[in-house]
Amino acid sequence: MATNPPKFKVSVVDDERLQNLKNTFERQYGGSPLFYACAPGRVNLIGEHIDYCGFSVLPMAIEQNILAAVSLNNSGTIHLFNINPLYSNITVSTSEEIVIDKNNPKWYYYFLCGVKGIQEKFGISRLQGMSCVIDGNIPPSSGLSSSSALVCCAGLITMEANQKSLSKVDLAETCTKCESYIGTEGGGMDQSISILAEKETAKLIEFGPLRTTDVPLPDSAVFVISNSCVEMNKAASSHYNSRVVDCRIATKLLAQAKGLNQKEFLKLAQVPTEMNASLEEMLALVEEVLHPEPYSRDEICKILGITSQQFSTELLSANTQHVTHFKLYQRAKHAYGEAARVLRFKNVCDCAPNDSMQLLGDLMNQSHASCRDLYECSCPELDQLVDICLKSGAVGSRLTGAGWGGCAVSMVHRDKVQSFLQAVREAYYLPDPRRAAMEKQSLFVSKPGGGAAIYFEK
Ligand code: GLA
Repeated sequence: MATNPPKFKVSVVDDERLQNLKNTFERQYGGSPLFYACAPGRVNLIGEHIDYCGFSVLPMAIEQNILAAVSLNNSGTIHLFNINPLYSNITVSTSEEIVIDKNNPKWYYYFLCGVKGIQEKFGISRLQGMSCVIDGNIPPSSGLSSSSALVCCAGLITMEANQKSLSKVDLAETCTKCESYIGTEGGGMDQSISILAEKETAKLIEFGPLRTTDVPLPDSAVFVISNSCVEMNKAASSHYNSRVVDCRIATKLLAQAKGLNQKEFLKLAQVPTEMNASLEEMLALVEEVLHPEPYSRDEICKILGITSQQFSTELLSANTQHVTHFKLYQRAKHAYGEAARVLRFKNVCDCAPNDSMQLLGDLMNQSHASCRDLYECSCPELDQLVDICLKSGAVGSRLTGAGWGGCAVSMVHRDKVQSFLQAVREAYYLPDPRRAAMEKQSLFVSKPGGGAAIYFEK
């Protein structure tokens, strides 16, 4: 084991889930685990689809996580056994290059992303063999970031197993980078909060360089997560990357319109930084420079003075080559508006956390409207659910995570939680047998949870 303990280690192991994991491990591999690791999912309170634009976001970790039991082996293999029988076991050799097939995302590729990320970060030629049992209780494809939690858990395990050490910020950055092996161009919110979260507090996460600040939430605010029960796997569709591409192209058009060299601009946040402009000024610039009608490839190539070949290789990702129209005005308007809402949310929490629920709720509602109308990352079921949440007494409600399905997060007054849960249950879950069957794990209160950690048995 590493002699210089990283700040991730905590010693305790004493709970039913861990005991069950341990028993499964012993049945599966015949010995006891050497250590355990966990990494939580997250709920984003506000700041959707702007981390990859370079703007700050405001999530908190949830209590649900990926939990793993690990031992080292000398057989030159990594064995993964998932407690959930839907996810098949897998063994990979440490003497071969780790291959991640972007076209066919499988659960264990997320784990392998984390392994590969640490391997490359430290230039490890031969990884330590390890045997792992994995247990996740974050609902998959629900916008609560189960996949990034798996990447982070694997990164932490691989670091520990190979006696390497990184700061939390460095591990979060490594895990952000390596999740792109699966093909999505994520912005780093999920990995950062999974690793840097602390109990009892939401965090403002800023990028470039990565840093976090605690955000005090109103004492009377309770956050309730409700799953629309529409699954969305962002690695298996091109919705997510197509938004990343829209924002990248919008950045270039805005930069060029202000006489900047568009080649140096990739993220919407770079333009106001370079121009020393406020977000309000950027919103005005969007109105002035971009038109609401979708842009064609030809039009963009003409404006930027690039060839169609350059357009495909430099601006599009592998899974967005088929896209023909780009809603640059709408995407940029969402991103600058949402970035401003995050800062307002944080300011309200800092100045008057206990007396400001309605202001925060309004910002959440505006965020949802912008995601739905400008960013087009909602879906009819999510819109219906958000509507029901508001009618059931939420002060604010919005989709959380990538969208196109998955969960809504609602802010509810502490005194109204029980009546809120009952009303949402009756209006959204009970009328539909499939939803009713999933209700228990789909509708729950969430408190800010802690970040990724390694545990040893007492
Ligand atoms: C996914 C990505 C994040 C972020 C959200 C949308 O969860 O992994 O980086 O972009 O979508 O806010």
